[in-house]
Amino acid sequence: MKGIILAGGTGTRLYPLTKIVNKHLLPVGKLPMILYGVGKFREAGIRDVMIVTGKQSAGLFMELLGSGGEWGVSLTYRIQDEAGGIAQALSAAESFIPQKEKFVVMLGDNLFEAKLSGYIQAFAEQPEGAMVLLKQVPDPERYGVPHIENGKIRHIEEKPAVPSSDYCVTGIYLYDSSVFEIIRKIKPSARGEMEITDVNNAFARTGNLTYSVLDGWWTDAGTFDSLAEASAFMAGSGTKED
Ligand code: G1P
Repeated sequence: MKGIILAGGTGTRLYPLTKIVNKHLLPVGKLPMILYGVGKFREAGIRDVMIVTGKQSAGLFMELLGSGGEWGVSLTYRIQDEAGGIAQALSAAESFIPQKEKFVVMLGDNLFEAKLSGYIQAFAEQPEGAMVLLKQVPDPERYGVPHIENGKIRHIEEKPAVPSSDYCVTGIYLYDSSVFEIIRKIKPSARGEMEITDVNNAFARTGNLTYSVLDGWWTDAGTFDSLAEASAFMAGSGTKED
């Protein structure tokens, strides 16, 4: 399976840290944030990785990561012309994924402890569709929140004022190539973004969305608090072998 890391966006919640530096290049422990996602793919045996980012930062990612060889992966870079939401960023990667192939998408600010290989194996055995990874959190209103009935996700609500559960949908998604067809059909949300939650809901409607609960520590390092938490958690990890 191939892997895609989405590393664009404006990082407004981390302003002014992100005024000139892309969020995914900020330090977390001893490494720039993007290297954790690269490392998670390498650990899971995914060698063919695409990084999608904006044109302002693309050169910096290339300077840092090069071909990826130093980090045990082979990298392809793709430019997202304008920040228009996660689903729009993902659509920029369409030609990287062959027809009928399955792949893994990671939001570059999602930092976590678990190995991805077990989830990837489970998804490989799923006939088609998508899989999301959930995590129990104290503040589900910050995230996409799944509504689960009889062991199936019926619907995901993006940043609900009153969350229906204390689980959130993490930024680790497993898809088959039909996702690109779905993205073409969705419309921008009220905040003007192509929402990944709308994409996942399309899979849920056809009964093709499964889930697993992500083991271990996880955070979305998009705020000052969660960035500090991530730095504290990752403080010890700084080598390619970690
Ligand atoms: C995005 C998704 C949300 C998900 C979160 C995980 O939110 O829209 O569904 O729970 O990532 O990190 P954002 O961080 O763009 O607000």
